[in-house]
Amino acid sequence: MRSLLGDYLLQRLQQDVTGTLQMRLFRCLRNAIIDSVLAPKTRLPASRDLAKEIQVSRNTVLNAYEQLQAQGYVDARTGQGTWVVEKLPESFLVKAEQNSPAVAEKKAQQNYNLSQRGSYLLGYSAASPYQWGAFVPGAPDVTEFPHHIFSKIQTRLSREPQVNNLIYSNAGGSLELRQELAEYLKIARSVQCDADQIIITEGTHQAIDLVSRTLSDIGDEVWIEDPAYWGARNILRINGVNLRSLPVDQEGIIPDLHPKKPPKLIFVTPSHQYPLGSHLSLERRKQLIALARQHNSWIVEDDYDSEFRFSGQPYPSLQGLEPDSPVIYMGTFSKTIYPALRIGYLVVPKQLFSSLRIVASELYRGGHLIDQQTLAEFIREGHYEAHIRRMRLLYGKRHAFLIDLIRRHLGEDFLHEYNTAAGLHLILKLPSSSDDVLIASKALELGIKVRALSQYYTKHYSTRQKGLLLGFACVSEQEILVAFGILLKCLREHGIRTLT
Ligand SMILES: Cc1ncc(COP(=O)(O)O)c(C=O)c1O
Repeated sequence: MRSLLGDYLLQRLQQDVTGTLQMRLFRCLRNAIIDSVLAPKTRLPASRDLAKEIQVSRNTVLNAYEQLQAQGYVDARTGQGTWVVEKLPESFLVKAEQNSPAVAEKKAQQNYNLSQRGSYLLGYSAASPYQWGAFVPGAPDVTEFPHHIFSKIQTRLSREPQVNNLIYSNAGGSLELRQELAEYLKIARSVQCDADQIIITEGTHQAIDLVSRTLSDIGDEVWIEDPAYWGARNILRINGVNLRSLPVDQEGIIPDLHPKKPPKLIFVTPSHQYPLGSHLSLERRKQLIALARQHNSWIVEDDYDSEFRFSGQPYPSLQGLEPDSPVIYMGTFSKTIYPALRIGYLVVPKQLFSSLRIVASELYRGGHLIDQQTLAEFIREGHYEAHIRRMRLLYGKRHAFLIDLIRRHLGEDFLHEYNTAAGLHLILKLPSSSDDVLIASKALELGIKVRALSQYYTKHYSTRQKGLLLGFACVSEQEILVAFGILLKCLREHGIRTLT
């Protein structure tokens, strides 16, 4: 029987017809590794087996494997086999650069089968293949989650599932979860809501898609912070709105109080500006709400990691500041539980609930109800709050540890002035003359997964700052220490003066 890899290679070999068979096989295998068909640490089939499967000589396979090893794509251990290396010679960030908007147009011509919107989005694609390890920004420590408790509830609910949990959801998600969330959000985030204002989504990405498709049209003016979360920008891009990026300072987004064209939607991260970390001041909150009321706009509040504030009082949500505020609140379990759970939620003004719920059913047909019920029970039994408390302590320690390393080895100037003791990442500020994209790409080659701050800005933004996003939540202090040492070396090699 042929394996999936065998099928893949046979198809690719038919398409790649130049050069010797060994060269063609090498190229097909290399592309399979680069495109993650063969993921890092995957074991390649034994040469004899692969040769038999794709009907070439064993020597052809052995030579292709040797070439892959010589170029750093695989490791061979005598007697144990051949494995895809963990860190590829190609760097993701260099790839991202090649994907820059500057070459988007050229790509659009090549991608002649794609829609213009699809090609346009590809030009900005930024999701990283690296989602775990030092210093992946925004990644929670998924190994610390009490999986045994969650799976016990899940197993119980799955044993004899209710029919309601096995059919499409038309109600905006599990009622039990919506009820638990309403209680939790009122207390933890001062959100003013009832269960019948909550729509469960498969994460914030889906929530942004739903809101932007239902409440804005192609060409409508939509405001977003600059810098901003690339994920939000990309969903808005593919939905065809006219994105206007507004600068951010110590008090959060600086709104245009007299806009020529009023915005339909205003996307903000008020509790912890992404990625810089500032907190939207009370005055700006009031200005934004007044502006939205005046122009019939909706403010979309992304409250992605507000559970993690390590000192001082937690900031309440923008949604809860005034009664009947024109605010759509978005939350996610990606940071508090784990990203692959794919559960998030929207809290919407009462008059919007019915339309958004219906559009959600039409677009996505809701499901995963047993997971949602499990989560409701997990929250009801107090495990969610307990987990957040424990993680807050743990992340607070890791945050303090990293801040201390930066202070001792680089100095205070490298700590961004908007950094607060909160969230899952911080900004390591770099001199404005430095090339943060190049440094991030070189660090990645050394196995250190950082992202360049300048890439979070729109292209022409004049006050674009240089720096690196360092996620500190998902790895132990020991791993932070080792990774920081490698990063320091990399910074020195790029002319950054360190203290030690
Ligand atoms: C600003 C921001 N909002 C939301 C999310 C979470 O998105 P999702 O709920 O789709 O996982 C992220 C993830 O990194 C983020 O950085």
